[in-house]
Amino acid sequence: MRKSLVPGLGVVALVAGALLATGNSAVAAESPDISVTNTKAHLDQLQSIANSNGGNRYTGRAGYKASADYVKAKLDAAGYTTTLQSFSTSAGTSYNVIAEWPHGDANHVVMTGSHLDSVSSGPGINDNGSGSAGVLETALAYAASGQTPKNRVRFGFWGAEELGLLGSKYYVNNLPAAERDKVELYLNFDMIASPNPGYFVYDDNPAGDGARDDLVAYFTSKSVQTEFIDVQGRSDHAAFRSLGIPTAGTFSGAEGTKTSAQATKWGGTAGSAFDPCYHRSCDTINNLDLTSLDRQIDAIGHMVWTYAQKDYTGGPPPTGDNLLQNPGFESGTANWTGNTGVITNSTSRPAHTGSYKAWLQGNGRSSTENLGQSVAIPGTATAASLSLWIRIDTAETTGSTVYDTVKVQIVDGSTATTLATYSNLNKSTSYVQKTLNVTQYKGKTVTVKFVGQEDSSLQTSFVIDDVALTAS
Ligand code: PHE
Ligand code: ZN
Ligand code: ZN
Ligand code: CA
Repeated sequence: MRKSLVPGLGVVALVAGALLATGNSAVAAESPDISVTNTKAHLDQLQSIANSNGGNRYTGRAGYKASADYVKAKLDAAGYTTTLQSFSTSAGTSYNVIAEWPHGDANHVVMTGSHLDSVSSGPGINDNGSGSAGVLETALAYAASGQTPKNRVRFGFWGAEELGLLGSKYYVNNLPAAERDKVELYLNFDMIASPNPGYFVYDDNPAGDGARDDLVAYFTSKSVQTEFIDVQGRSDHAAFRSLGIPTAGTFSGAEGTKTSAQATKWGGTAGSAFDPCYHRSCDTINNLDLTSLDRQIDAIGHMVWTYAQKDYTGGPPPTGDNLLQNPGFESGTANWTGNTGVITNSTSRPAHTGSYKAWLQGNGRSSTENLGQSVAIPGTATAASLSLWIRIDTAETTGSTVYDTVKVQIVDGSTATTLATYSNLNKSTSYVQKTLNVTQYKGKTVTVKFVGQEDSSLQTSFVIDDVALTAS
């Protein structure tokens, strides 16, 4: 029997490993080698699930539910706290599988995800069995590693991405504002084993530039050249990005054609698609480049291990943290000043989340109403943005005349600047998110202000919720 250096404690090697990891962050952050054999075994399972369910794993079909059950069972067995979140789509019920490692500071969540659904025409093994298997195997390896994370490590397997990113949108829209603020990073992996692979790193969210650069540095350390790609929110990170959460991800290519310069640095076939079977029935277990898969899963592991240990507690406000207090109005009028009655839990208009919101105007009389909050934007910021969700209903239905407005303003000293004006012409009875650039106010204490104005007849209601001012 091995001797323990810690009296009265673990003679079991695993326990000693966990103690070492706790005391030594260098050990904790060491990059893992995620098993490509195990990852391939998950892909074999997804292929056989498709085979026994009509050849696909499409939303609303048995092959999708079986895929979700497979992933959930593996995560449950590894000790994750899992949730099967169902939602409805035009193609039937879909599911997100959410798994959280129940250790670490719950106020700081590092999230990694991939979509688990295929298109209807095939089994979707590269798109996106590859990302799903890689994220799953990374989660299992993390659980088995004995790491003691500083932060919460959470994984998401999204349904109905192929129907318009529905699962990830559903997830973020149903996450209470306070929970959203805790998500420090979202990493996305959609298609990582394309048969004629490229090594693309998402470059579509400045808030995620740190993680983006870490991905590039990781691949560079493995002598793999990368290219940035502006994926324009074409995958599930988009929902997180629109909340101001830092996002990053990788991609081995879809329908695009590999250039000869790319073939020179990455090998493979110039003039051919990165994935000639993209969204086709031939996206099977034979439609994979295992070298790409192996490199990509190690990059996922590197990022999860690194960000699980990242210190989000000290220093300037971390990227993505909301600088506004009571941003979803759930504490009533706390932290806000303005006309009485604007912040309300009236059930006549829905909140975006929770029950309170700011309801400006809607009385059909000539009047103005305002609401504001003072906020200090750090001078160390390189970018700052103000986002809000707004719902506008109106009785002004004729013509294209602006009658009633709400202005979003920044008041800097005695100067009020209008960043945006929404009116009866912007009617939308579902909430729409608006994001406005406020970088020019860094280093200043300013007031974020909403000013509603109505004319003498026909009401327009401007309902605002879940306001965020984030600096990065
Ligand atoms: N989201 C696309 C799909 O599933 C794939 C994709 C990922 C395309 C990333 C571009 C960038 O079909
Ligand atoms: Zn797809
Ligand atoms: Zn995809
Ligand atoms: Ca609210």
